Amino acid sequence: MSIIFTENEKVFTLHTKASTYQMKVDQYGFLLHLYYGRRTEGCMDYLLHYADRGFSGNPYEAGKDRTYSLDVLPQELPSSGTGDYRSPAVIVKNRDGSYGCDLRYQTHRIIAGKYSLPGLPAVYADEEEAETLEVDLEDPVTKVRVTLYYGILPELDIITRSLRVTNRGEGKIYLEKIQSACLDWVWGDYDLITFYGRHAMERSLQRTPIAHGAQVIGSRRGTSSHQYNPMMIVADREAGEDTGSCWAMSFVYSGNFKGEAEKDQFQQVRVQLGLSDELFSYPLEEGEVFYAPEAVLTYSGQGLSRLSQNLHRCFRTHVCRGKYRDGVRPVLLNSWEAAYFDFTGEEIYQFAKEASKLGIEMLVLDDGWFGKRDDDFSGLGDWQVNEEKLGETLGHLIGRINGLGMKFGIWFEPEGINEDSELYRLHPDWVLAVPGRKPVRARYQLVLDFSRKDVVDYMFQEICKVLDQGNIEYIKWDMNRSLSDCFSRATKDQGRVMHDYVLGLYDLLERLVQRYPNLLLEGCSGGGGRFDAGMLYYSPQIWCSDNSDAIDRVKIQYGTSFGYPISAVGSHVSAVPNHQTGRVTPFKTRGIVAMAGTFGYEMDPRKLSEEEKQEMAEQIKTYHKYGDLIQNGLYFRLTDPFVREVGAWEFLSEDASQVLVSAVMLEIHGNMTVNYIRLKGLPQGCMYQDQESKQIYASDALMETGILLPVELGEYQSYQMHFVKVS
Ligand code: GLA
Repeated sequence: MSIIFTENEKVFTLHTKASTYQMKVDQYGFLLHLYYGRRTEGCMDYLLHYADRGFSGNPYEAGKDRTYSLDVLPQELPSSGTGDYRSPAVIVKNRDGSYGCDLRYQTHRIIAGKYSLPGLPAVYADEEEAETLEVDLEDPVTKVRVTLYYGILPELDIITRSLRVTNRGEGKIYLEKIQSACLDWVWGDYDLITFYGRHAMERSLQRTPIAHGAQVIGSRRGTSSHQYNPMMIVADREAGEDTGSCWAMSFVYSGNFKGEAEKDQFQQVRVQLGLSDELFSYPLEEGEVFYAPEAVLTYSGQGLSRLSQNLHRCFRTHVCRGKYRDGVRPVLLNSWEAAYFDFTGEEIYQFAKEASKLGIEMLVLDDGWFGKRDDDFSGLGDWQVNEEKLGETLGHLIGRINGLGMKFGIWFEPEGINEDSELYRLHPDWVLAVPGRKPVRARYQLVLDFSRKDVVDYMFQEICKVLDQGNIEYIKWDMNRSLSDCFSRATKDQGRVMHDYVLGLYDLLERLVQRYPNLLLEGCSGGGGRFDAGMLYYSPQIWCSDNSDAIDRVKIQYGTSFGYPISAVGSHVSAVPNHQTGRVTPFKTRGIVAMAGTFGYEMDPRKLSEEEKQEMAEQIKTYHKYGDLIQNGLYFRLTDPFVREVGAWEFLSEDASQVLVSAVMLEIHGNMTVNYIRLKGLPQGCMYQDQESKQIYASDALMETGILLPVELGEYQSYQMHFVKVS
């Protein structure tokens, strides 16, 4: 039993293997948060303190008791209008124009299995793997009901949160703010770790003390964004990779979001994650319901490595779905950096022919195969195969590529549209645009209004028409701009458009994965602009960044690894000088970096020297050898590449029998100092053998002082070491 309700104390205790979460219904029916941390027993309501606090108001029923104030007490779902002046999780605008929602406990249910959310991605689990707690809270005056959902996956150390709002009163209300998860700490000095970035340089780590005043991250771009990832870590000031308490909150959502952290007047800390309240005012008619997207929580008492591993395992095995969930993904060659818009069917076939000889398993035809699309000025939206450009039908080309023993994949950007397209000429009202204003353009394109069902239905048909032309086994699903001009001609309530857009996207993706269960989807948004757990529900891998430079990638993939599994990280070897940075790195280094992800290539294989071709064939063999260990093993960050002159990471099989260590030199200097790399997570008192040198090492020494990397001349050298446990 992972959920326990003690009737006399009215306390809910949620246990996972290594954590405990506790809350209590108090004498007024408010749901107070008591505890989230290392696994423990007993009731923690002694942590609450009551004192007369000036300027912190009291609920009416408290009468003359000035020591009870929601401004001070930790809560599960703080709501605006109840006397809590910290940032609320819920703001409701009522039928009479008033703001406020006074949520009191009604009832609860404990259910076997994990809840799901209609129309939204969410963690899934078998009945034996999870339990669900539903707690109904209601405003006695407006009859607005909020059902809190808690999903507990004990073995994974995961607790999920979501909520459903039901308008059980009379008339229409508006949800002005809905956070999916709120965590209150009654004291403590914590750091907030967030991941910021930009196009082609995503997910850099920032760690700052949680201070007085709000620290806010988020997206108002309609996608989860390159700029801030929808995931946050709260860490004890002392916590590091291997020690200390830390908590992660990750949003299973691909649109606008808001993450906030705040230290209050009494040094208490509140951290919340959920939908952005900007451009959001969601109408609920009488009887209607609204589901908030899910937030995934996990706690580690053993530092950030364990925290990341908890998220990795959860997303890999309980968010990702489909045929490719557990398997090593096909090694692919993508045409983008090899040809951009300039190709014929024959050229693509020649890429494939050369690639297949070297062991590549799938050819992906990127942008440019449809409509009038020889550059990014036109054609987007016209998903009709440009047979003239290909010089053959798509079916014929696919047949030829399959004939080489290779799979075939194709690029789509279903949400984008050029004004210079047949679709736009036919349906100018299908885009997001404010009547009477000129819309903001980005990459010469506008965005289709996916909040409209007719638009989503049309796009589903168009994609199916292409997919039915041949044996297409993979789609790269791109989205190359941020949303703006968020006005839909199909609704009066514009405050719902940003969220409905994401629901439309999810609906389309769900219909496709249902109709084509064997299809592998790779998410993409100008690289890693929509790298979130929501997309992973549909696409088990996401192109991590448009920056394929191996050295920058070490940093981008380092940041990404805090929240997402290696099996989700799309990573390719590309040509040098690198197209984004102009940097030249060794082929081997590019391979080792791309192997910390779903491996592939992004170059014209015909242009490689014989030596490089040989190296490529070897690399692919190496990837096959370690593929399972890489995708399904435990991942450890061995260095911080923002601090050290070497980037290093480790894959450890769950049974600890095998270890693969990768290291990339990020700098080179005269009279170079030696770099040592400490291994992690090995069992004590064991011996490991380096499979190349055959040298045997003690696991404790490998973890204490580490191995030393060779000192070699030349920039960006790299090493991959495979150890096997011998005793
Ligand atoms: C985006 C993607 C690239 C490529 C181009 C095609 O930028 O991230 O990988 O697919 O679009 O236009």
